[in-house]
Amino acid sequence: KGPAVDTLKPLHQELERAVALYRQALRDNAEARNYLQTRGVLAAAIERFELGFAPAAAQFLTRNLGKSGEDRRLLAAAGLVSTRDDGTVYDRFRERVIFPIRDGRGRLVGLGGRSMDGREPKYLNSPETPIYHKSRVLYGLHQAREGIRRTGKALLVEGYLDVITLHQAGIDNAVAASGTALGNEQLELIFRAAPEIVLCFDGDSAGEQAAWRAVNLAPEHLRQGRLLRVLFLPQGEDPDSLVRGQGSAAFHALLATARPALDVYLEGLQKRHNIVVEDEKAVFLHHARALLQRLADPILKELYEQRVATLCGLRMARHPSPPLHQEP
Ligand code: CTP
Ligand code: MN
Ligand code: MN
Ligand code: MN
Ligand code: MN
Repeated sequence: KGPAVDTLKPLHQELERAVALYRQALRDNAEARNYLQTRGVLAAAIERFELGFAPAAAQFLTRNLGKSGEDRRLLAAAGLVSTRDDGTVYDRFRERVIFPIRDGRGRLVGLGGRSMDGREPKYLNSPETPIYHKSRVLYGLHQAREGIRRTGKALLVEGYLDVITLHQAGIDNAVAASGTALGNEQLELIFRAAPEIVLCFDGDSAGEQAAWRAVNLAPEHLRQGRLLRVLFLPQGEDPDSLVRGQGSAAFHALLATARPALDVYLEGLQKRHNIVVEDEKAVFLHHARALLQRLADPILKELYEQRVATLCGLRMARHPSPPLHQEP
């Protein structure tokens, strides 16, 4: 299944060469260094996260790494350059701060790049390649391994800068599902690293949607002993802005307010369906039971079925109710 390892190794190596160049380019570029300074990223974090800078030149990588036809083929296969209709090859990342992305085993698999002047898209990521599958990657997992092991917990945030600022503030178990909605594969990946996960999305409508999407994935992941909590940040804040503005103690205090994912789901359902009215209560019950039906842990299932029954003023059935329709 999949290409042999030795056909992928050159792609990892090509990314290593590109990142070495981008890191040197950051040392050489005052504007990029200044940008990171204004973002509060200190030298130690620049090293730890191997941050770099992609110069504006469209042939920066081709000039440095594309001597032979085989070299240029590698650059393209690693997702570092693209080809225009007229055949000219150009760098994918130009005038951007570079965030190297390593997989759980520490291999370089892709890059994220942020514009420094408000140009859109704000963030650009590697395309899907034989080594970069965004739905299977968690940014920062390589650096967070030790912190996750030590605490038995992992914190999942949205962005690159969130991860970096948190690590810099000593919260070194943070990872991000950068550039994609959190999926089942990423949730499983992070639960394999730690039994206790806190999801922390931005305090904006995108973050709220992401949280709702994530709690909808929860039931199959909540095997015995696992905890999945959701932390809501104040409106307009993300972990980076909050830690920078209020300090890590304020963030730790907020962490203690994280709510169980299933509670968040039920409360979200209650906001959508007014259970004071019988017909809406029925819709609420359909959705709630459909979610609880997916729970593998019988104790958790019983506890929440009881909760839903109480909420709806029902007497608890002696046997769990049969499955009704799934949430579309
Ligand atoms: N993202 C992306 N493409 C975009 C916008 C966002 O891939 N056009 C991803 C990035 O990984 C980003 C994350 O989604 O870090 C969260 O987005 P957002 O909250 O908008 O950005 P921040 O990380 O807060 O970026 P910054 O603080 O640098 O403005
Ligand atoms: Mn956001
Ligand atoms: Mn954000
Ligand atoms: Mn931010
Ligand atoms: Mn509905």
